Amino acid sequence: MTSLLSVQNLSVFYGAGAQAVEDVSFEVEPGRVTALLGANGAGKSSIMQAVAGLVPSKGKLLFEGEDIGGLPTRERVRRGIVYVPERREIVGDLSVRENLVLGGYQVPSRERQERMDAILELFPEIASKIDRGAWRLSGGEQQMLAIGRGLMSGPRLLLLDEPSLGLAPLLVRRVFERLGAIRGGGDLAIVLVEQNLRMTMRLCDELHFLRGGRIVGYRRAEELQDDAARQQAIDAYLGATPAELEKEHA
Ligand SMILES: Nc1ncnc2c1ncn2[C@@H]1O[C@H](COP(=O)(O)OP(=O)(O)O)[C@@H](O)[C@H]1O
Ligand SMILES: [Mg+2]
Repeated sequence: MTSLLSVQNLSVFYGAGAQAVEDVSFEVEPGRVTALLGANGAGKSSIMQAVAGLVPSKGKLLFEGEDIGGLPTRERVRRGIVYVPERREIVGDLSVRENLVLGGYQVPSRERQERMDAILELFPEIASKIDRGAWRLSGGEQQMLAIGRGLMSGPRLLLLDEPSLGLAPLLVRRVFERLGAIRGGGDLAIVLVEQNLRMTMRLCDELHFLRGGRIVGYRRAEELQDDAARQQAIDAYLGATPAELEKEHA
């Protein structure tokens, strides 16, 4: 079977000598959630940005079996690859509605309305503020808007970069809950970057552990059901940073 996304021997360099990602390979299947875990600077965002076509990379990127490595970002978006960056890049000057429309600008207007309705149903918090300036939303609401905007184009693959960053625990839980609903809804695949190991494990199907730009470990979520197994993976792959990974208060 052909994977939805096949990342083969991916490397990302920022200028001479600055290698952020080294020889990374993994597969993403339709409807599955794949997590990339690792400390700050491990290369997680660089991998996602390479898949989205936002940074140059070496190696091979296949999407639905086709080589997308040479395609510009907008063509990757057209094919269904959407990146929601770590710093939710919503447009503060625009209203919530306008931000959503922006996310679906290449979608026929009738479909766009249907999609917007579905997204607002998923995120009632922002539905009630649809005509407000996006800058007035709380951090959690902005994250919902950023995810909603990403969904507006009808992606096949959603690349979510630290969606819980900076959110209070209650909101983190809410965002994850909605992600659970999104994934239950069809064959959308998600690649998720998170520091929040416990929440991530509840949502995802498989996890890749990164250190220094390389994948150093792999687990299926089933293998991490108990605390001991989780701790073992943290010790083995994430080094001495469990505090920041466990800062959720489940
Ligand atoms: N635009 C950039 N220019 C130069 N170096 C960068 C740039 N973006 C990231 N890096 C470096 O690449 C490495 C990986 O960064 P990043 O992919 O952002 O990691 P993560 O998302 O896991 O925190 C880090 O050493 C970081 O400093
Ligand atoms: Mg990052």
